[in-house]
Amino acid sequence: MTSLTNTIAFANGKGGVGKTSVTANVAGIAALSGWQVLTVDLDPQGNLGTDLGYTQNGDSDQGAALMAAIGDGAKLKPLRNVRPGLDSVPGGDLMDGLMTVLAPRLLDETAPATAIADALATVAEDYDLVLLDCPPAGGVLLEAILIAARFLVVPTKRDLGSLHGLVRVARSFASVRSHDNPDLEVLGVALFDFARQDTRILADTRERLIRNLAGAAPVFDTVIRNARKASTDMRRDGLLAFEYEEAASSALRHRVAERVWEHPYRFSSNGYSKSASGLAEDYQSLTKEILAAFAERNGS
Ligand SMILES: Nc1ncnc2c1ncn2[C@@H]1O[C@H](COP(=O)(O)OP(=O)(O)OP(=O)(O)O)[C@@H](O)[C@H]1O
Ligand SMILES: [Mg+2]
Repeated sequence: MTSLTNTIAFANGKGGVGKTSVTANVAGIAALSGWQVLTVDLDPQGNLGTDLGYTQNGDSDQGAALMAAIGDGAKLKPLRNVRPGLDSVPGGDLMDGLMTVLAPRLLDETAPATAIADALATVAEDYDLVLLDCPPAGGVLLEAILIAARFLVVPTKRDLGSLHGLVRVARSFASVRSHDNPDLEVLGVALFDFARQDTRILADTRERLIRNLAGAAPVFDTVIRNARKASTDMRRDGLLAFEYEEAASSALRHRVAERVWEHPYRFSSNGYSKSASGLAEDYQSLTKEILAAFAERNGS
């Protein structure tokens, strides 16, 4: 078993470039649009569970089930319905041992490192879409993950470090594609955390990326805007951008309505930022681009 035809890995060799935020929001929007979606958190930081809120609810096993599946071939049982249509395999602290589990297999140069692909194959066919949130790694770990994927999306910021991270991914991509997984394709590069007003920086970054990629990968039209306050609140409260936007505007309605009656609110949304209303729109538009590219390349 090698690549899973419905699997997209979100990867960049650099940390903090939006891999998890993009994975969570694309997953939530795709699920809301009727796709059966599974997310898999391959990062010991476990941030995907925080963005989706299941960690705060006490539902994360910190990667125990995923490690058992990768190490011993146990069948995965994802958390069901973390959103309607969206299931999740949690990551977390226990994923720290992933390299130790993979090492014996990686040492055998005659066999491709299919441990992650094999673990995901036990559940992938139950879903239309499987999204892998990768750790900020390159090298053999990333390669073992990319063997499991059919497609790759590379989020990047504008700083040099993120762009170097992209080069690390490109190296792993080339190695995996030429050896173990010839089906692997880049769906595109996603620009993340750009100030809307900095149109010149955005244009320069896009142009430089397109030149450096030399046709090897498209750059998505959508840019995820900078929204620091909203993104901090979202991660703390386990909300996706569209949910945050909804909560922010209902808080506004609440403030008007509270003179008349009390509403029970799940979140202390009174401090939510209104200025981030475009963030949900950005994710909506990026998801549309990713799903269109996925459908086109997958022949569906
Ligand atoms: N639109 C945004 N604007 C500014 N900052 C953001 C935005 N969205 C998320 N962030 C913040 O940027 C940081 C990095 O985001 P994220 O965790 O998604 O990146 P990552 O690539 O998964 O990081 P890691 O490599 O550590 O897993 C987080 O602190 C997050 O809260
Ligand atoms: Mg992450």
